[in-house]
Amino acid sequence: MAIEFAQRIRRIPAYPLASGYELGPDVAMLASNESCFAPLPEVVQAAQRVLGATNRYPDPSYAALRGALSERYGVAPGRIALGHGSCDILLAAGEALLEPGAELVYGWPAFSVYPHLAAASGARAIEVALDAHDRHDLDAMAAEVTVATRLALICNPNNPTSTAVALDAVEGFLERVPRHVCVILDEAYCEFALTLGDPYASLELLRRWPNLVLLRTFSKVYALAGLRVGYALCGSEDFRVAVDQVRQPFYLNVAAQAAALEALRHQDAVERRVTQTIAARLELEAGLSELGLGVAESDANFVWLALPEGVVEAELVRGLAERGVLVRAGEALGREGALRVTVGTPAENARFVRTLGELL
Ligand SMILES: Cc1ncc(COP(=O)(O)O)c(C=O)c1O
Repeated sequence: MAIEFAQRIRRIPAYPLASGYELGPDVAMLASNESCFAPLPEVVQAAQRVLGATNRYPDPSYAALRGALSERYGVAPGRIALGHGSCDILLAAGEALLEPGAELVYGWPAFSVYPHLAAASGARAIEVALDAHDRHDLDAMAAEVTVATRLALICNPNNPTSTAVALDAVEGFLERVPRHVCVILDEAYCEFALTLGDPYASLELLRRWPNLVLLRTFSKVYALAGLRVGYALCGSEDFRVAVDQVRQPFYLNVAAQAAALEALRHQDAVERRVTQTIAARLELEAGLSELGLGVAESDANFVWLALPEGVVEAELVRGLAERGVLVRAGEALGREGALRVTVGTPAENARFVRTLGELL
C-alpha cells in the first residue's frame, strides 16, 4: 500500500527548478537571478572561521546579525525576522497568516513561490494581472481586498518582469487596505532599483504602517544565494514573533550568519557591484535592441524579454542551453512567449546576445 499524504500535497505546485547544474563550468548561468560575482574573500573567510565550532548549535536569537541589521536600517531587533533565505520567511508567513476561508492577493506573474502559499494553507489566492507595462496594478489589487484577506504580496521589483512601482503608489495601496491585512513588500532586488531611490526609501513606510513587512535577502546583491540568508524588516513585532513560532528554532546555520554579518561590513564593495551590474544590464539591453528585441523597463539584475511572434519559446530555450547559455522560459514563470535573463558578466551577456541572434 502506498503512503497516504495530506490532501495539500496534491495541491502544492512544484517550484520551477533551474536545470544545467550538470553541464560543467563553461556555461553562462543566467537562469536564477544570482549575482555573477563570487562572495567577497573576507565573507568567505568569515564563514570558514566558524566551521571549527559547529559541534555547537547556532545562537538561536541570532543576536549579532539581528543587531547589525538593526543598526544599518534603524529598525529595532525585535522587528527583524531572519530566515533560511527570504523564501523561508515567506512560507512561514503563509503558515502563520493563512488557513481555509482566508484570502491572499498578489499580482501575476510574480515570484513562483507565491502560489505555494495558498495551496499549502487551503486559503484562496487572488491573482491580479499586471498592467500594460508589466507593473503591479495596485488599484486592481486593492479592489480585490475583502474581509477575508489576510495577506497581500507586492513583488517590487517584480520577478519575473523586472519592473518596479514607485513607493508613493505602494503607500496609496496601504492607505486603501485595512490594518489587519499583512502587506509584504518583497524587495529581493530593491538594491538594483533606480525607481525606488535607495534601499532606505521604503523604511519610511515602516514607520507609518505596522502591517507592512519589507522582505529582503542576502542571495542577490550580497552574492550569498548558496548560504541561504533572508531577513524581514517588520512594521510591528507581531509578525516576527508569529513567523518564529511556526519554524524550527535553528533555521540559520552558523556559517550563513557569519557570512551575512561580514557582508554587511563591505557596503562600498557591494555598491560598486550594483553599479557594475546596472552598467552591464544597460549594455545587455542595447545588444537586445540591436536584434530588434525590446525588454520591460528593468529595475533589477535581470531583464524580461518578449519573444517575436512565431518563435517557439521552448525550442529557443533548449537551443540556448545546448550552446551553454541557461535562461528561464516565461512559461515556467507564468507567461509564455518571454524569457527572463539574469545579468551576468559582460562576457556572458555578450555570449547570450550572440547566441540568441544566431538562433533567431
Ligand atoms: C522576488 C523574490 N523573492 C524572494 C526570493 C527568495 O530568495 P531567497 O530565498 O534566496 O532569499 C526570490 C528568489 O529568487 C525572488 O526572486
